Amino acid sequence: MVDYIVNGGKRLNGEISVYGAKNCALALLGASVLTDDEIILRNCPSIVDVDNMILLLKSIGKTVLRSGSVVRISGGLTTTRIPKNIASLLRGSALILGGAVAKYNEIELPLPGGCAIGARPMDIHLQGLESLGVEVSCTDVVRCNGKPKGASYKLRFASVGATENLVCACVMAKGESFLYNCATEPEVVALEEMLVKMGAKINGVGTPDLQIVGVEKLRGVEFDIIPDRIVAATYLSAAAAAGGNVDVLNCCPKHMDAFLNLLHTRFKVRVFENAIRISSSGQPNDYGKIITAPYPFFPTDMQSLALSLAACSNGGQTVIYEKLFENRLRHNSEELCRMGANIVVEGDKAVIKGRNLNGATVCSRDLRGGAGLVIAALNAEGQSVIKGIQHIDRGYYRLADCLKDLGADIDEK
Ligand code: EPZ
Repeated sequence: MVDYIVNGGKRLNGEISVYGAKNCALALLGASVLTDDEIILRNCPSIVDVDNMILLLKSIGKTVLRSGSVVRISGGLTTTRIPKNIASLLRGSALILGGAVAKYNEIELPLPGGCAIGARPMDIHLQGLESLGVEVSCTDVVRCNGKPKGASYKLRFASVGATENLVCACVMAKGESFLYNCATEPEVVALEEMLVKMGAKINGVGTPDLQIVGVEKLRGVEFDIIPDRIVAATYLSAAAAAGGNVDVLNCCPKHMDAFLNLLHTRFKVRVFENAIRISSSGQPNDYGKIITAPYPFFPTDMQSLALSLAACSNGGQTVIYEKLFENRLRHNSEELCRMGANIVVEGDKAVIKGRNLNGATVCSRDLRGGAGLVIAALNAEGQSVIKGIQHIDRGYYRLADCLKDLGADIDEK
């Protein structure tokens, strides 16, 4: 198994380009089951989760051709039984559900199950489908039968995946639907925009409350995957932690307000239409109080980055509340403490007292946690070994090489 070897203390300088968002690509690939026509997705990232989603689509009959960052999907499903060995490769497999029920009125999906960050149940997805008149049974496999019929449904929590599945189910339902308390993350909005371009009738795109009138058929489309705001935040965090001057290009600053507000008062940050410039000449005292919540508030996927920045801040106290995923905070806190961090975790709250970190051997257990450990290692005195980087490869394209290009002393070994 390959590890990252990081020698901290090297400043980062230069420019780095962001690629398409994993969580947008997975939603749009999942929605491709809604039509046999060709869907062309541009700016698709070359990451393991996308590779596995493409594998899944091919395994159920879709034709998928990839050329660089352009992915072409066409054809109909030859089966609605998702192979367990492929469904278990990524949680994004769940995003097939809504589209398959809408177009084929049936699906058999092995539950993707929980992961290191939490149990990640699917009750909202399934209750929503039942409210649309779909027959749902759920053991370790989700079985759905029946054509969705227009209805009203309020999500008890603004779940990203449940919103994506329910919107896909409603766009070909019989009649009119109203969905309330939907997620409004940029990746969800991109899906809604793509569906409208495919002929879906959705009012309220980008808002929590959607009115959808079902249509008989959806057509093919060409669509650009939005830049990955979490990758952009990762690069900015690397520069903040290591020190230096870095331009992050091809990103979408307007998707990152909550994170940028954290940096603006602590580093010199200049925001352009599609780029962000950060200059870091030392660590801030602290990062105040951070509470993760659905968009537009502080994203849970950026929490691991903030935790590492707080751990190496200059002596002050930061408090972070992780309100979405019950395990996300504890694991990375334990690993950062191996680097000498002063972090106390109680339930969903971490109290971090910034201090100088020392290199250590640490282990990544989830995608964003792994990125957070890299951020801390760039700042730490001495050498760190980061294990479990297969998690990082699920959502980042050549992270080590990208950081090395900026001057980091990081290698895969
Ligand atoms: C999406 O996961 C993202 N994944 C996650 O990114 C991200 O952390 C999360 O949204 C929140 O922004 C993809 O888009 C592929 P949720 P998702 O449903 O849809 C609870 C990454 O690193 N919940 O919004 O699974 C759930 O337990 C990944 O890129 C239910 O209780 O997230 C959690 O507490 C990690 N029942 C909260 O809602 C449900 O039916 C948020 O989950 C669904 C969710």
